[in-house]
Amino acid sequence: MRRKLIAANWKMNKTHEEVKEFISNFEYTEATLNQNVEVLICPSYVFLQELNKFYHEKGVFIGSQNLSDRDSGALTGEISASMLHSMKVGYSIIGHSERRKYFFEDNEKLTKKVDLAIQYNIVPIFCCGEQLEQRQGEKHFAVVEDQIRSALFHLDKDLITKVVIAYEPVWAIGTGVNATPYQAQEMHAFIRDLVRLEYDDNIAQNILILYGGSCNSSNAAELFSCADVDGGLVGGASLDPVEFLKIIKAANE
Ligand code: PGA
Repeated sequence: MRRKLIAANWKMNKTHEEVKEFISNFEYTEATLNQNVEVLICPSYVFLQELNKFYHEKGVFIGSQNLSDRDSGALTGEISASMLHSMKVGYSIIGHSERRKYFFEDNEKLTKKVDLAIQYNIVPIFCCGEQLEQRQGEKHFAVVEDQIRSALFHLDKDLITKVVIAYEPVWAIGTGVNATPYQAQEMHAFIRDLVRLEYDDNIAQNILILYGGSCNSSNAAELFSCADVDGGLVGGASLDPVEFLKIIKAANE
């Protein structure tokens, strides 16, 4: 059975005080989880170290929301995969639709980021998903296939197993309109099938595919019960420790 992964994407939210408040109100204990659900928090870079120290050995993983597409050098303001690795960061979100849209990250850039993450032992959570017009024009499968093929399918069999895929339809992100369980399952099964055709059945059965887009404690259980939905990438609802814990518990059901 595949494990489930519930990942918080805090985006550009929370001050230091608010991070400390989250920590004191997040009543996570290992006892509330089963062995098969992994919890990950992706805060802003500046809080990675503090959260990593606090949660180290408590069973909560910490990841970044991005990393540079370059290894090192004169790139003011950038954060590299090697730096993150040296701070024991084990996951990084790559290719979020907000990065694609506001920071012009294209497939070429994202391929480099995926490669650097893997090189430094960081699990890339590779985001894909269509815009509203693309779904309305029934192009959603083609769009997602192209995103995945371009940035992931150069990886060989050993390396693709290190990747997590997150399906995040852009029209569902931050809108309060989540994909229905039917829509999510349909796309997740499609993605798993792509992986099976490119690699093999064993790899496809083991790769984690998360759903993201207005996931909250009211819809999480239904979404996570879909056969090919292996957890969630949660934005807004992960900012509140009580709500986030409910979503984690929904994955335990
Ligand atoms: P949302 O964001 O849960 O606020 O829709 C999800 C994401 O962008 O990862």
